[in-house]
Amino acid sequence: MKNQEDQFKKVLSHAKEYGFIFQSSEIYDGLSAVYDYAQNGVELKKNIRDYWWNAMVQMHENIVGLDSAIFMHPTTWKASGHVDAFNDPLIDNKDSKKRYRADVLIEDYAEKLNIKAQKEIKKASKRFGEAFNEEEFITTNPRVVKYLSQKETVLKRMAKSLENEDLKDVKALIEELEIACPVSGSKNWTDVKQFNLMFGTKLGATAESAMDLYLRPETAQGIFVNFANVQKTGRMKIPFGIAQTGKAFRNEIVARQFIFRMREFEQMEMQFFVRPGEELKWYEHWKEKRLNWHLSLGLGKENYRFHDHDKLAHYANAATDIEFNFPFGFKELEGIHSRTDFDLKAHEEHSGKKLQYFDHEVNNSYVPYVIETSIGLDRMFLAVFSNSLQNEILEDGSERVVMKIPSVLAPTKAAILPLVKKDGLPEIAQSIIDDLKFDFNLSYDEKDAIGRRYRRQDAVGTPFCITVDHDTKEDNCVTIRFRDSMEQKRVAITDLKSIIAKEVSMSTWLHKL
Ligand code: GAP
Repeated sequence: MKNQEDQFKKVLSHAKEYGFIFQSSEIYDGLSAVYDYAQNGVELKKNIRDYWWNAMVQMHENIVGLDSAIFMHPTTWKASGHVDAFNDPLIDNKDSKKRYRADVLIEDYAEKLNIKAQKEIKKASKRFGEAFNEEEFITTNPRVVKYLSQKETVLKRMAKSLENEDLKDVKALIEELEIACPVSGSKNWTDVKQFNLMFGTKLGATAESAMDLYLRPETAQGIFVNFANVQKTGRMKIPFGIAQTGKAFRNEIVARQFIFRMREFEQMEMQFFVRPGEELKWYEHWKEKRLNWHLSLGLGKENYRFHDHDKLAHYANAATDIEFNFPFGFKELEGIHSRTDFDLKAHEEHSGKKLQYFDHEVNNSYVPYVIETSIGLDRMFLAVFSNSLQNEILEDGSERVVMKIPSVLAPTKAAILPLVKKDGLPEIAQSIIDDLKFDFNLSYDEKDAIGRRYRRQDAVGTPFCITVDHDTKEDNCVTIRFRDSMEQKRVAITDLKSIIAKEVSMSTWLHKL
């Protein structure tokens, strides 16, 4: 736990110190749970977005893009259920005056039971070595059985109470489990209340004529209301998908985990329209596809797991989260939902417009079913950033801080470094930049000893450093240094483009999918 906290602190300070993320309006003491992406952050974020977009849209002939507006007709949110049901259960601690999501307090309690069970399993696996039968141990070891069944019971009861809107029982559960406020340590809780997460605003010049609007809490509804437009104008045949990335806004009750839970954030969503009855087949298909996308980045298979929902949202008949091992433990990174025909049907009812598809193969019209994949761009940023930030002890005992960002996502692909600021070396470096800048985002640095410059590039995750020295003038070669291995090689300037492209180009990475 202490290690996790230390790692998270390092992530926060590194993100600021190296120009990845600043708090919004920092000179006015900031705005809670709202952040700005700085010079390196904006590049990393853009590269993640591009990698998602290309994997989803460019790589699939039957998926097209969309960029719908943030403002939408207010009836959209009535139809989608957000006005009535987009609530979180909140609870206040009377002593610390801190506000919590009641379900998160209970989920954290359940996760602690899970961690205890996993520790027992790890210990036993060490003790028994090769002979260890994990499946048998999990089902027979009394302590593990107890922890896991307690966890299940707690989560099931919470799911049932929330489904039945029984907020009294949610509070009773918190009291029975003796959950204390992490700040005050007290168990002096208020009742649990529902809190709608949408931000309201107004459209129009005068108070009388102004229309009440919401800032969209998800990008998905922009896709649903454009279903028929895209299907007809794109002559799309089922199964097909519509993808979009864009801002979403939620008035989160608890927003204390940096960019994990923000009030203004970005989503990357895809709605895949299928024939009714085939949705669960496609649900499995997209679960596998999306996990492969994550695994292709090489952040470690052990850092992902599926978490199937016990409590299904009002619109879903199956749902899972891809959870990632963040510095504060496994948490939701992406959701994959089988949303049935709920949204399109609701928009049909509220708008009076037909949102159906005529399927020539079955000679029938129907409202398509939908599989949704929905990932938070900022959360993905945090996953990449926290996983990449590493402290290495080198052979000579010195330490280096290196961001081992997957090279396709790295903000800067190469830094061009003249060994000294004179003798014509900066000019050669500049001519290399002028040649490579059409293909790659580069940086130039001539200040300080070369070792310090290498470390600066390591700290922002630049995969290649290219040093121009006096020999370059004779042999037209440079030294290329690889970030992860720190290996250095002498190569011809004319080979640089292909060496860098092989590592960082989007197509190399997309081929791994
Ligand atoms: N259209 C479905 C939908 O919005 P969701 O599970 O509420 O589903 C999808 O959100 C993803 O959006 C989450 O898995 C998470 O990555 C991201 N997300 C949700 N709320 C967020 C927040 N407050 N801050 C950052 N990312 C968030």
